[in-house]
Amino acid sequence: MSETKHKSPYALEVRGLTRSFGKRKVLDNVSFQVKHGEILIIMGGSGCGMSTLLRHIIGSLKPDAGEVYIDGTEITKLNDLELAKVRKRFGMLFQTGALFNSLTVGENVALPILESSDVAPHIAELVVKLKLELVGLTGFEHLKPAQISGGMKKRVGMARALALDPDLLFCDEPTAGLDPVMTAVIDTLTVDLTKKLGLSAVVVTHDMTSAFRIATQMIFLFEGKVIAAGTPEEIKANPNPILQQFINGDADGPIPLKLSKDDYLKRLLQA
Ligand SMILES: Nc1ncnc2c1ncn2[C@@H]1O[C@H](COP(=O)(O)OP(=O)(O)OP(=O)(O)O)[C@@H](O)[C@H]1O
Ligand SMILES: [Mg+2]
Repeated sequence: MSETKHKSPYALEVRGLTRSFGKRKVLDNVSFQVKHGEILIIMGGSGCGMSTLLRHIIGSLKPDAGEVYIDGTEITKLNDLELAKVRKRFGMLFQTGALFNSLTVGENVALPILESSDVAPHIAELVVKLKLELVGLTGFEHLKPAQISGGMKKRVGMARALALDPDLLFCDEPTAGLDPVMTAVIDTLTVDLTKKLGLSAVVVTHDMTSAFRIATQMIFLFEGKVIAAGTPEEIKANPNPILQQFINGDADGPIPLKLSKDDYLKRLLQA
């Protein structure tokens, strides 16, 4: 892919994104950039606003303040029609999979292809086969979501996210619920796609092995703010105790728990 294809040096730029739900500020002046071809990992504790951040980036939610630029185009103020055009360049793997239960696996993957172009059904079918092969699901086209495992649903979601050959791939916990081998398959796929096709990716994950395997850049969210950003090496070397507690998965540290470990054990013993 040639560099001249791009308007901006950044596939994605987020500036000062702020959003509250009621009195709670879930995103607080979040800023970062993703250069073309990079894989940005977003890390943070559960409930710190990662899925909300992705929803703002893809334009499903509007921020209270701040901007989102997709290859130089500011999208927070676009109307639905203009946004739909920009969104054709995104692939999004939702945290919950978001598959349609009444459709088969194949139909779920075909949906964005049939919705957004005049592709003949037999061509769409070929594309579906190819995308399912990429995620190791050849032969599962005819099953319904209820007939496949949680991990397989994730991979169908990934195949659907890749259906339109996006420039930008967003994945919300793509490997949650997958075994280590399938996690490695999805990780390798993400890295291969960015390297071979020049795609850029933004991946939310709690899986630190996966995060350090694929990231070219990382940000860490805490209480709605970016409290650390850098390359995997810089993140590893960052002395911030909150970040280090998270990376190392330590129970004790500065990350506040709603219930302390001792209180939790006490309650467990009383139960
Ligand atoms: N539409 C909404 N209305 C009100 N509150 C919301 C809404 N969406 C998200 N929130 C709140 O924002 C906070 C962050 O939610 P979000 O889904 O972004 O978490 P997360 O960082 O993705 O966590 P997890 O890792 O568990 O998925 C939560 O407290 C959630 O209740
Ligand atoms: Mg989430």
